Amino acid sequence: MKVGLIGLGNMGSGMAASLLKAGHEVSVYNRTPGKAQALVAQGARHAVRVADACRGDAVITMLADDGAVEGFVFGEQGVISTLAKGAIHISSSTISVALAEEMTAAHADRGQRFVSAPVFGRPAAAAAAKLFIAAAGAPDAVEACMPLFDAIGQRTFRFGANPPDANLVKLSGNFLISSVIEALGEALALVGKAGLDQHRYVDFLTSTLFNAPVYKIYGSLIADKKFTPAGFAAPLGFKDNRLVLAAAEKLQVPLPLASLIYNRFLTLLARGGESLDWSAFSQLAAEDAGQESLPVRAA
Ligand SMILES: NC(=O)c1ccc[n+]([C@@H]2O[C@H](COP(=O)([O-])OP(=O)(O)OC[C@H]3O[C@@H](n4cnc5c(N)ncnc54)[C@H](OP(=O)(O)O)[C@@H]3O)[C@@H](O)[C@H]2O)c1
Repeated sequence: MKVGLIGLGNMGSGMAASLLKAGHEVSVYNRTPGKAQALVAQGARHAVRVADACRGDAVITMLADDGAVEGFVFGEQGVISTLAKGAIHISSSTISVALAEEMTAAHADRGQRFVSAPVFGRPAAAAAAKLFIAAAGAPDAVEACMPLFDAIGQRTFRFGANPPDANLVKLSGNFLISSVIEALGEALALVGKAGLDQHRYVDFLTSTLFNAPVYKIYGSLIADKKFTPAGFAAPLGFKDNRLVLAAAEKLQVPLPLASLIYNRFLTLLARGGESLDWSAFSQLAAEDAGQESLPVRAA
């Protein structure tokens, strides 16, 4: 397919490379243009403006947050004003349910198709075409996107015809991951203060009852205290925590754990942790126990 990709950060770069490997014709756009170079060397076309990435069958946005997506989608010469009728905007960023609702309506007004397709998996999974995709949109639109989803992911799960539903799935998934990070931080603080080997403990957990990728990935990151370079930066993790709380407020669903984690993020950021991986807030449980402090100031 002829596809544009807007946003060449940790995730978008790997996704663009996977699309090229699968044989798609890919135009790449990024605010900081230098990030397109490596992809151009792999066969991508460099889109100098957002509009240049919107000339194909579909355009994928993989940007940091609501503000970035709003700017490029609703801005002058943005996605809404330049995408052809019938072409598809695939929104893969983790954004608010409210913005997904706005984009659903705006694209429908223009006769364009819109699919929310946020992804699960860190940058290594993006580079290896191993993402999991949660997709929602009109069935014909989602079907048309399948060659692209197959190129970037290992499996696509469909969540119906209403695009914002996929965004809620993504936000609730990140809420669960952040809960695992908090729980692992507390459990590791406990066994660590008693002098037990944390790596052996994580190996035990993940070889028995907790044999799941999320415990394996975050268990070893936390036991290693490996929070740089950030695969998923703390400010982005905090953004997702605020977005799930906003969605929960609108639906009147209390999320006490998410509120606790909101304060963990605030503490992490107040101590200068913005360049660390989001999982660094796990260390605050050890600090509460009078153990080692965050490696934040030195980083
Ligand atoms: N990293 C993960 O593990 C992961 C996993 C699943 C989903 N996600 C989600 O995927 C999205 C991208 O994440 P990422 O880790 O790839 O982020 P990232 O490495 O920080 O990249 C962010 C991208 O957004 C652009 N951007 C940021 N602010 C902008 C603005 N105000 N105007 C225009 N462009 C702007 C950046 O452009 P520049 O290069 O010019 O800064 C870059 O292309 C986020 O919504 C994130 O929550 C991340």
